[in-house]
Amino acid sequence: MKTLSDQAIGTAHGKIILIGEHSVVYNNPAIALPFPAAHVEVTIEAIQGHSQIRSNYYEGSISNAPESLNNLTKTIEAICEDLGYEPSGMQITISSLIPAERGMGSSAAVASALVRALFNFFEQPLEYDVLLHYIGISEKIAHGNPSGLDARVTSGNQPLFYMKSKLPERFDLHLTGYLIAADTGLKGQTREAVQDVANLLKKSRRKTKHLLSSLGKLTYQAKEAIEQDNITDLGKILSKAHHHLSDLTVSNEKLDKLVQVALEQGALGAKLTGSGRGGCMIALAKTFDQAKHIANELMKNGAVETWVHSLGADTNE
Ligand code: MEV
Repeated sequence: MKTLSDQAIGTAHGKIILIGEHSVVYNNPAIALPFPAAHVEVTIEAIQGHSQIRSNYYEGSISNAPESLNNLTKTIEAICEDLGYEPSGMQITISSLIPAERGMGSSAAVASALVRALFNFFEQPLEYDVLLHYIGISEKIAHGNPSGLDARVTSGNQPLFYMKSKLPERFDLHLTGYLIAADTGLKGQTREAVQDVANLLKKSRRKTKHLLSSLGKLTYQAKEAIEQDNITDLGKILSKAHHHLSDLTVSNEKLDKLVQVALEQGALGAKLTGSGRGGCMIALAKTFDQAKHIANELMKNGAVETWVHSLGADTNE
């Protein structure tokens, strides 16, 4: 008889896309960093009867869960079916510090922690490719056409240079400077934004293709700037990327405002991060004090939360 763990845990973390969001869906490269400050943990305890789910958004039986949790419930069903268990007898608790729908990879991170917790609960080894396969099931339901970038960055510990058609390159970040991330407080709209870029590609093919490939070129330039520890150039590249993303219609007024505030307050560059239309923006600064100052000004101008993150040449503050 198969035995189950009484309690199992799975964890993952958020991500920040430095550059290449949206264009990565069309096989251009992107650079993304794990964001451990935004952590998610899923615990599963054995209970009697129907499985229950407890999260910030819903508490109750899995069978009555709202459609907005379909990505998770379908993933649970798929794993139970593949491993030969009934999807019952589990109390699943999701504790997430990642703001949801803010471009920080919350849906992929929750899926990653959930898959890990389920495999621990069923005492099964979990190969990385299998993990990615199940996160992919969840992300397709959540976002329609995911590039796979979020799945990888939220479940790994290193910055990635990622292209859909190639094996991702992991690299160590040793850049002298700081990244500021700021939350607009507005929910991003990944599914809609990704779909609207696809529609734009049908409507204005030449222009949209050009924007997507320019974002791809900027990503290669960003990689070079990182390799040369040139945060000044990297800043300029990020700001250019923001304009392209805005032309792709995925920015909004608040993101544009926070980008402008960051630049006026001395940021070396700034852009939206993630799918846009809300969610978060990022900016770069040379020193920790400058980064703190920019973060404070972003809060005064409407950001609801900010984070300052060392880019590796220094210890994290
Ligand atoms: C969302 O975090 C990033 C997008 O590029 C979509 C994707 O890569 O799947 C907008």
